[in-house]
This record gives sequence, C-alpha cells and structure tokens, in this order.
Amino acid sequence: MKRIAIFASGSGSNFQAIVDACQEGLLDAEPALLICDKPGAYAIERAERAGIPAVAFVPREYPNKAAYENAVLQQLQVHRIDFIVLAGYMRLIGPTLLSAYKGRIVNIHPSLLPAFPGLDAIGQALEYGVKVTGITIHFVDEGMDTGPIIAQVPIEVAAGDTRESLQKKIHDIEHIFYPKTLHQLFSIKGEKITR
Ligand code: GRF
Repeated sequence: MKRIAIFASGSGSNFQAIVDACQEGLLDAEPALLICDKPGAYAIERAERAGIPAVAFVPREYPNKAAYENAVLQQLQVHRIDFIVLAGYMRLIGPTLLSAYKGRIVNIHPSLLPAFPGLDAIGQALEYGVKVTGITIHFVDEGMDTGPIIAQVPIEVAAGDTRESLQKKIHDIEHIFYPKTLHQLFSIKGEKITR
C-alpha cells in the first residue's frame, strides 16, 4: 500500500476527505504524513485529531527554496513516503522535490485547466463570467498548474452563484473525486496513467 504525504497550507478539507476515504477503505493508501507550510493552519489540527504525524515548516526561515525543500525531503524519507498529494498547498514545487518524486506528485486545482491557473481560480472564473468551471487533478511539473491532466469534472456556474456558493460546490466535488482519482491512479499497475 502506498504511503502518501499530503501537503496543505490552509483548512485542509481535502486532506480530511482523503484521510476519511482511506479509513473507509475507499482509497487504498496510508496517509502517513501532513506537510504544512503555515504553522497555524487548521489542517494541522485535523491531522492531530486523526493521529497522523504533521510537520509544520516556516519556509522563510530557510536561506532558499532548495534548503526548505531539502528539509521537507528529509521528513518524507523519515516517514518512507512513496507519493505526494498536494491539497491546497500554496507554493510551487521546486527542483529538489520534483527530482526526488518524479511522476509521483499530484495536485488538485479548482478550475478546468488550462483555464484560470494560479491564485484565486474561483474568483477568476466568476470575474470572467464562465457558465461552466470545475476541478482538475493533474501531475505536478515545474510550472504553475501545468502538468499532465489525470481527471477533470465540470461544475455549472449558476446565475446567482457567489464566491461562497461556488466554492462549496467545488469543495463538495473535490472531496469525492480526489480520493476516487487517487484510488484509480494507485490501482494502475506501474502507475502509468495517461502520461
Ligand atoms: C481546494 O479548492 C483546492 O482545489 C485548491 O485549494 C483548495 C484547498 O482547500 N488547490 P482545502 O484546504 O482542502 O479546504
């Protein structure tokens, strides 16, 4: 069974959904570590409640990105992590982690990529006035939300949708599809999926 590390910076509702799916037997993986780059994040509390080791980093305490990522990498090695799952981790993955976990890092983004990459994808979609947005689960490469796409789910933007209502719709879908997609990915022999 794959030992996964989940990286989160905020509330961690996707972290929770992944942990719950593992406990319910819907996702065949061991959520072995939470990596967080914001020491006060609610995701850490969720990890403590679930009995999952959590390590909080303050990236600006390191001289550069490589030093920060080396410290993260050390924790991944200590916890024998096979696969990295980004879930609301608000930081670009650099060459240190990318080369150590080549093809073994996935992310979820709240839009139908390549539309609306980067920060505040939900706000960008509302601002543009699209009628359909969605979620994308993709492999991580050196770009911002640019890696090969694994799965997408469209979500309708209703006339009266606000940022809050659209965010809730997106979260509800993410919480079902992220664990489900990870499960499918892990059950494919050799991890080759549309690459
Ligand atoms: C999610 O909408 C995810 O798509 C994006 O960041 C958000 C994280 O939410 N990358 P949460 O911390 O999992 O609640």
